[in-house]
Amino acid sequence: MKIDILTIFPRMFDALNESLIGKAQTRELVDIQTVDFRDYADNKHNTVDDAPYGGGAGMLLQAQPILDAYEDIESKSNTKKRVILLDPAGKKFDQAMAKDFATAEELVFICGHYEGYDERVKTIVTDEVSIGDYVVTGGELAAMIMIDATMRFVPGVLGNDISAYDDSFSNDLLEFPQYTRPADYKGMKVPEVLTSGNHELIRQWRLRESLKKTYLKRPDLLENREFTNEEEKMLREIKADLL
Ligand code: ADE
Repeated sequence: MKIDILTIFPRMFDALNESLIGKAQTRELVDIQTVDFRDYADNKHNTVDDAPYGGGAGMLLQAQPILDAYEDIESKSNTKKRVILLDPAGKKFDQAMAKDFATAEELVFICGHYEGYDERVKTIVTDEVSIGDYVVTGGELAAMIMIDATMRFVPGVLGNDISAYDDSFSNDLLEFPQYTRPADYKGMKVPEVLTSGNHELIRQWRLRESLKKTYLKRPDLLENREFTNEEEKMLREIKADLL
């Protein structure tokens, strides 16, 4: 996969050279390139922002440097591109979107600053996306979150035995509690079933705990979910136990 990031703070993306995403880059599972769109500003001071027509507080990113930087990227490859505009007014990013982005050949992220963008930037955009209902100082952190979550779905990135499809949210349930050694830490014991070696009982226990945790912490995730008969029965029992 190829990822291009249009930003005026390219060094922020050095963080992607660490950990799993860093490894994915060395292993050439992804090619991440930053493009400083300030380099494309067509004025001698290299400014990329200006005051909004009609008045109002703050500055807007101009369309010209961003559109020219994108044109340069486009001229270098004819892969189909998904162009993502980081914007608190966009659609809220989630695990399903990460999975979908992971199927693209090339992703282009446009990171904004100041009060927003000149509306004409949107002529090249395929997706306007937000990381949540809060405003951060720029799109860079938001882009890094999306790149990280997306890369987890690119085959090979997590290693062979781990799958992002088992993570919380991937089946619309939160992940069950996990334990590692020792089995007894200062009197805090690991649930006996987990040390029983009985795979079927362990599976049932995990499913029940996932359902319970989701019901208690994120009931909204259950609202439109389709349940198996087993899950429905467990959920009824969980609710009865909690009464
Ligand atoms: N830029 C500023 N806030 C943002 C958010 N919540 N999501 C995406 N980009 C942003």
